Amino acid sequence: MAIRNILYHPDPRLKKSCEIVAEVDDDVRALMTDMLETMYDAPGIGLAAPQIGVLRRVIVMDCAKSEDEEPQPYCMANPEITWSSDELSVYEEGCLSIPEEFSDVERPAAVRVRYLDENGAEHEIDCEGLLATCVQHEIDHINGKLFIDYLGPMKRQMITGRMKKRKKERAKSTASA
Ligand code: NI
Repeated sequence: MAIRNILYHPDPRLKKSCEIVAEVDDDVRALMTDMLETMYDAPGIGLAAPQIGVLRRVIVMDCAKSEDEEPQPYCMANPEITWSSDELSVYEEGCLSIPEEFSDVERPAAVRVRYLDENGAEHEIDCEGLLATCVQHEIDHINGKLFIDYLGPMKRQMITGRMKKRKKERAKSTASA
């Protein structure tokens, strides 16, 4: 198990459509374990493989509301939305690859998702509330899409500009450390 480095926007690897997982093998299971550990450490409620530079269709999530609540980890390979509600909902979204930035995003309020779990077994589950938003956000990642792509061009450019500046500052401070 290992905590992996999270890539920050802008990075070309965050814009790529990821490869289908042919088989959930030990490699994929190790990736899922590392991703969960990285997500909990960050901390965050979801993480997609491209965010750690692995261009495969794997996501992990845990939307348990508080630390008192039992953990509810999900590991998904090849997740796919098979149904979305007409009803929409708005959540203020953030992303571990775009730290310190938050914006309202409107998405279907409920979705059905088909995926393979860590043992390769197929599931289809109904998601609503925060889990519905989170799973759509993470599936977007494996299609090379970020939540800021839902915003207007002005707002997106402002956020990207701030991210570039922060990346530069971070590079400078690690170079001098
Ligand atoms: Ni994200």
